[in-house]
Order: sequence, then structure tokens, then C-alpha cells
Amino acid sequence: MSEKELRVTKIKDGTVIDHIRGGYALDVVRILGITGQEKRVMTIAINVPSKRFGVKDIIKIEGMALSAQEVNRIALVAPHASINIVHDYAVVEKQEVELPKTIEVIIKCTNPCCVSNSGEPVSSKFHVKNEEPLSLKCHYCGVSIEKADVLKQL
Ligand code: CTP
Ligand code: ZN
Repeated sequence: MSEKELRVTKIKDGTVIDHIRGGYALDVVRILGITGQEKRVMTIAINVPSKRFGVKDIIKIEGMALSAQEVNRIALVAPHASINIVHDYAVVEKQEVELPKTIEVIIKCTNPCCVSNSGEPVSSKFHVKNEEPLSLKCHYCGVSIEKADVLKQL
């Protein structure tokens, strides 16, 4: 490394969310409810060079593990992210985030007349039309839901 470079430091224990598409890290941060007021060391790197994507974002959080529900939510904005669990500086677990072809429950349909909003025991269901940026189609009423609508709900 030349003296012009400063590589982002490794963490001791915690979570590294890697391979987030460049520009999406702040959406992920928002989904995790991180405000910046936590007493944790966190690094958010935006638009760093990546072999896979050209550019990528990375989030490193000391001393925090993610729940399965948080991982599912991250998949909605960063479907190609990898989640690395770090213990004592070593990556002990690597989980590739995956966006299913159909999404149930997490998101509500934005159409108030949709059967999934009628109080009937029908939970929401969407088909993924496009992964990045996210675009969903309601299984019941066909309405399209874009990433911005989804983010409002997360
Ligand atoms: N990392 C970290 N602190 C550690 C260990 C790893 O911040 N103590 C970060 C690395 O900088 C990298 C990510 O966690 O961004 C995954 O680490 P590793 O599996 O070692 O890297 P790669 O082999 O490049 O991962 P991949 O195959 O997923 O690209
Ligand atoms: Zn609907």
C-alpha cells in the first residue's frame, strides 16, 4: 500500500455487510435502525472499488449481530450483499443474502382496496419484477410497488 492509501480497518468482533451495490449503504443503515448515536464503532464505506460490481458499499459494525428478520430486510435493498460474522478478527461465518422470487408478509400492498388490506385473512404477496432497484407486483391486485415505497415501510 502506498502512503496515499488508507485501507478501512478490520473489526475484532461484529458484522461486516459487504458487496452492497454502490450507493445503497445508507438504505441498509436505515433498515437496521442505526442512528449514529449507538456507542459502537461503525464504518460505512461508499463507492469503493470492487471486482464484482465496479463499486460497492461496505458496512462494518463492531459488537453487533443481525437477526434473520434484519437479513431478510437487507435483501430487499441489497440482494447481493454478503454478511460476515467476525470473531476475534476472523470471519467465522459468511452468509449470502438472497432475495426470493416471491415476497410475503414484510411489505404491505399500497392499494387500499387490495384484498390483502381488507381485513380478510389474506396476507400480502408480491412477485419480484426487478431486483435492483427493487420493483414488486402485488399477487392479488397487480399494483406495482417500487423501492421507495418499500423503504418507507421498512
Ligand atoms: N473483515 C473485517 N474485519 C475482519 C475480517 C474481515 O472488516 N476482522 C471484512 C473484510 O474487509 C471484507 C469482509 O469482512 O470486507 C469479508 O472478509 P473476507 O471473507 O476475509 O474477504 P473476502 O475473502 O474478500 O470475502 P468475499 O469472498 O466475500 O469477497
Ligand atoms: Zn395489492
